[in-house]
Amino acid sequence: MAIKRVGIILNGVTGRMGTNQHLVRSILGIIKQGGIKVGDDLVLMPDPILTGRSEAKLKALSDKHSTKESGPLKYSTEVAKVIADPAYPIFFDSSGTLQRAEFIEAAVKAGKSIYCEKPTAVTTAEALRLAKLCEDAGLKNGVVQDKLWLPGLRKLQMLKEQGFFGRILSVRGEFGYWVFTGHVADQPAQRPSWNYRKADGGGIMIDMLCHWRYVIDNLFGEVKAVSCLGGIHIGERVDEKGKKYICDTDDSAYATFELHNGIVCHFNSSWCVRVRRDDLLTVQVDGTDGSAVAGLRKCYAQHMAATPKPVWNPDIDSPIDHFAHWSEVPSPMEYDNAFKIQWELFIKHVCLDTPFRWTLREGAKGVQLAELGLQSWAERRWLDVPKI
Ligand SMILES: NC(=O)c1ccc[n+]([C@@H]2O[C@H](COP(=O)([O-])OP(=O)(O)OC[C@H]3O[C@@H](n4cnc5c(N)ncnc54)[C@H](O)[C@@H]3O)[C@@H](O)[C@H]2O)c1
Repeated sequence: MAIKRVGIILNGVTGRMGTNQHLVRSILGIIKQGGIKVGDDLVLMPDPILTGRSEAKLKALSDKHSTKESGPLKYSTEVAKVIADPAYPIFFDSSGTLQRAEFIEAAVKAGKSIYCEKPTAVTTAEALRLAKLCEDAGLKNGVVQDKLWLPGLRKLQMLKEQGFFGRILSVRGEFGYWVFTGHVADQPAQRPSWNYRKADGGGIMIDMLCHWRYVIDNLFGEVKAVSCLGGIHIGERVDEKGKKYICDTDDSAYATFELHNGIVCHFNSSWCVRVRRDDLLTVQVDGTDGSAVAGLRKCYAQHMAATPKPVWNPDIDSPIDHFAHWSEVPSPMEYDNAFKIQWELFIKHVCLDTPFRWTLREGAKGVQLAELGLQSWAERRWLDVPKI
């Protein structure tokens, strides 16, 4: 069995996503399982190096996460020098959204394959510019679109492929949870403060509408138009250093999407709601023959034949236990971590030229929807989504 080492620069990896999902769950997960076995005689083995600004944070990360399989994790604060090193053909970025462009530009100049977190930028023009940079240089490129590999959404996709829904009429997504403001010492905020500052690339539309774009495009159909209302429900939060700051960008978004095929999708996204539903994200699909509600991992379905007949009567407690009429869709297989699955696909794409359609151009479509959402909110009107 030949082992091909694949050098991967993990930039901005001391952050929340970089550490948890990309380093630990994906790259170290792949190393721990013995690499990516391709065929009978080849294994692709990630060879990561961590890059960032803080030597101390990188060292701490390396000390904490080096395993016997990975050996001591390499790290460097000299990003430019590492980018120039041909031992690392893949450049990955999970630094802040606003930092992304300069890193991608440098990595493109060095001829790297580019993989990065979403959103790739905060404007469509910039996201398309970055996509074009990679395309013009003939470089393989990809953007994280992790939700596509969530078990719950894969079960929805499976039901759809099996014709379970009949004609799909509408989709409603409910995403959100309470993000502590940080005002109470024993309830520290669980998201970075930049999420609530516009100048730092924050806002829930730029964060979540990117996801809803690829979820809708891939599962339900092409988005034709958007109407979105935003909200800054909480005006002040407390940052990582305990300092109060003004929140000047949307922490909630109420978005309706009309698809070319007539399906109506409505997605609420909020960091100011408490959860009384199956999961932090639930997606309900209603069709002529059946409905299903997916959470991150589980999915419940109700076929026409099992649909109870509700009659409106507020004078009595409901005679129907509505939750009792749904059946859980079983897991027919083991589902791996969503980020790890996409990483494996990208590494195979780079090394073996296998297909990979989740490119920077696809990522730019997400930025476009977010930008149009913000514009719709500002102008209080429906907007068509042009093809890009
Ligand atoms: N796919 C998803 O579901 C998902 C979820 C959350 C965030 N994200 C995206 O991931 C990215 C990171 O978000 P996060 O929540 O991990 O934020 P974070 O603030 O925890 O991490 C950002 C990291 O970038 C580093 N950084 C900032 N400037 C840098 C620079 N000049 N050079 C090197 N490193 C730099 C920071 O030190 C930090 O380690 C954002 O673009 C965000 O939109 C994606």
